[in-house]
Amino acid sequence: MTSIVTLTLSPALDSATSIARLCPDAKLRCSEPRYAPGGGGINVARAIHQLGGSALALFPAGGPTGLHLADLLAAEGIPCQTLPIDAWTRECLNVVEQASAQQYRFVLPGARLSEAEQAQLLAALDDLPELDYLVVSGSLPAGIAADFIPRLLQTVAQRGARSILDSSGDVLRQALDFGGLYLIKPNLNELRALSGEDIDDSDQLIGVARGLVEAGKCAAVLVSLGPQGALLATRELSERIIAPTVRKLSTVGAGDSLVGAVTLKLALGAGLSEAARYGVAAGSAAIMTAGSELCRRADTDRLFAWLQAREAAGAPD
Ligand SMILES: Nc1ncnc2c1ncn2[C@@H]1O[C@H](COP(=O)(O)OP(=O)(O)OP(=O)(O)O)[C@@H](O)[C@H]1O
Ligand SMILES: [Mg+2]
Repeated sequence: MTSIVTLTLSPALDSATSIARLCPDAKLRCSEPRYAPGGGGINVARAIHQLGGSALALFPAGGPTGLHLADLLAAEGIPCQTLPIDAWTRECLNVVEQASAQQYRFVLPGARLSEAEQAQLLAALDDLPELDYLVVSGSLPAGIAADFIPRLLQTVAQRGARSILDSSGDVLRQALDFGGLYLIKPNLNELRALSGEDIDDSDQLIGVARGLVEAGKCAAVLVSLGPQGALLATRELSERIIAPTVRKLSTVGAGDSLVGAVTLKLALGAGLSEAARYGVAAGSAAIMTAGSELCRRADTDRLFAWLQAREAAGAPD
């Protein structure tokens, strides 16, 4: 079995609650909190699990919040490997104001990793008995060394495994500078920030995405375009995948569901085109679920079958 490992450098213990009305100074009485695992790579592993696959979630964990996070994942049946660290795993807070149904998402900085902990994380990755796909997703905590990302990608490359990256800013830039990535999954704004271009038409979008591939920075770029679906660019092709129209409950988890689905399909031996379509189906399936719930398998499979049928019928993309 092809093995998938996800790496989350800024994992989170997500707590969700609600209040009647948000107002300053007053005591805001909250409803009973609900806790859920959070962080890019962790959610990618959860999405893969939802879709019937399996991925090992590797992440640093510290303090009681780190233990709580690992417990929540164990209860969901997600295989985990944690690296114990000194700093406490961050807690993020999601508050719904009942009067307006507005959601406020308080995202704290990720727990700092010391230099020794960063080295231990790389050693843990190198020691994994199985590694075919490494998905790195999410932001970096403070204190990460400038050469951490290149060393990480070097470790993956030496193992003969493929790296998939869903991140932005410096991480994305450093990873692309290292080169040799298999797949990156920026959204349009992340690609704009990376390229410094406005990207306001589809020719420009294709040009920027293919430019990265042709420069040898990665084998494929999958740009997610929200309700517009995604663009896949490789050396051989560039194709638009139009997302199905679905009833929107919450956009939270769309990107992680997409990345999980793409990785799972690739690990099962599919090509990039098919994997990207499955990813779009999973992203759209995540839109159909409330709150932070990820894609459901039945929705994903139904939307994927619908996308395939639409293409077989020759509908324009
Ligand atoms: N309104 C929508 N309707 C249908 N599908 C959607 C919608 N929004 C997003 N999607 C699906 O989810 C995928 C990923 O969405 P998006 O481009 O918003 O990712 P993202 O910006 O990385 O999201 P995230 O905020 O989760 O990181 C899209 O490619 C598409 O398939
Ligand atoms: Mg995203």
